[in-house]
Amino acid sequence: MATIHKAKENPMKLADRKLLIRGRTARSGRVTISGAKNSAVAVLPACLLAEGTSILQNVPDIADVAVQREILESLGAEVSDGDQPGELRLSVGDVDAEVPYALAKQLRGSVLLLGPLVARKGEARVPLPGGCAIGSRPLDLHLKALRELGAEVEIEHGHIAARARRLVGAEVYLDFPSVGATENLIMAATAAQGTTVVYNAAKEPEVVDLANFLNAMGARVVGAGTDTIKIEGGRELRPVEYTIIPDRIEAGTYLLMGLAGGGRVTVENVIPTHLEALLAKLEEAGVELTDGGDYISARLEGRPKALQLKTLPYPGFPTDLQPQLSAFLLLANGTSVISERIFEDRFGHVDELKRLGGKVEIDGRTAVIDGVESLTGAPVTATDLRMGAALIVAGVAARGETLIDGVEHILRGYERLEEKLTQLGVACEWVE
Ligand code: EPU
Repeated sequence: MATIHKAKENPMKLADRKLLIRGRTARSGRVTISGAKNSAVAVLPACLLAEGTSILQNVPDIADVAVQREILESLGAEVSDGDQPGELRLSVGDVDAEVPYALAKQLRGSVLLLGPLVARKGEARVPLPGGCAIGSRPLDLHLKALRELGAEVEIEHGHIAARARRLVGAEVYLDFPSVGATENLIMAATAAQGTTVVYNAAKEPEVVDLANFLNAMGARVVGAGTDTIKIEGGRELRPVEYTIIPDRIEAGTYLLMGLAGGGRVTVENVIPTHLEALLAKLEEAGVELTDGGDYISARLEGRPKALQLKTLPYPGFPTDLQPQLSAFLLLANGTSVISERIFEDRFGHVDELKRLGGKVEIDGRTAVIDGVESLTGAPVTATDLRMGAALIVAGVAARGETLIDGVEHILRGYERLEEKLTQLGVACEWVE
């Protein structure tokens, strides 16, 4: 097999390679966590709300951000790398209102252009988005929210077409605390006349990060992080410099990868409270944890204890860590029961995990995992982002080699993957 050592990890160029993991090689390691993907893909579109140059720090160098950046450029914004790693400079003048299909289909977060474009231009044409195949992922709440602010919104020719001569503040109740719908609504409401109140709003840290960014720009968004958010619209927004929060899902993923390998793992540059649900479950599984304020160390003697859990909106257990935790529990002592309550079809990892010897049965939206004593490496294929991360967790825990195909899905959300795995003590390399 031809191997490529120390290839520079350009997320676009590595996509046609495979990742080879040599399991059970992990020593102790430390990983520095990057900026949050799901904050960055919301804050980038929010930059369109103010003319001038905004500077973002701690932006992760991942494929989803690269696509979101290309979308902004296609609309007329100028985006360049700053002097520091993770710095982006976004210069915004007049912008187009139509998002190109070729870019939007690559990324679920492209739908987050809807709110800012309607706010800035009074119109938007955004293709129905792409992204991970984890269920039907409707957009009804995004559309309802914009309509309640007075926009006319239609789905035509595969696009969401929204038009509003003026937006007017309204009280909007979301039937489900959707992250994306809350974000689109907050962004649109900054341009609405009067006050908007969002009931049953999403409370995820990425929603709070977006609200903090908008407030730094001069908006007045109050209550983000609770289930009622108020936006006083119509204030003039100005460009700002802003630092994106650390990625809680990346942090949780590396904790699980390190623990799966049997070493002591430390994740640095994290906000531990954002990881409370995972940390509680890890403790229940027998993991010894140290909360260092901006780092977390974890260590496990022997096999984890089996767990029962449900994914829920924040502060519940995040669906974006469910596949990785499921992979970790393949080796648990006992039977774990995992119930997926956010997405209807987020068990794509299960069949691939079985190739490594995992014993998992699916019953509707519940996975029952019978812990085994050992896993064996195998060739596997990722078809979505967190499934890919789960395959790495299992590969790190398995004896022998695991060759992971479909790496392009993993690079959508994990920056400098091989480098960080190596820092964790995992033996891995890219192969042609
Ligand atoms: N939903 C609706 N109608 C809507 C919107 C959502 O029924 O109009 C449903 C969805 O079908 C789903 C649930 O509500 O069952 C949650 O969806 P939500 O809108 O909260 O998710 P999202 O905004 O599409 C973001 C993240 C996801 C993460 C979810 C849940 C971004 C770009 N994506 O998606 O991240 O899983 O919130 O926390 O912020 C990932 O990073 O791997 C990922 C998939």
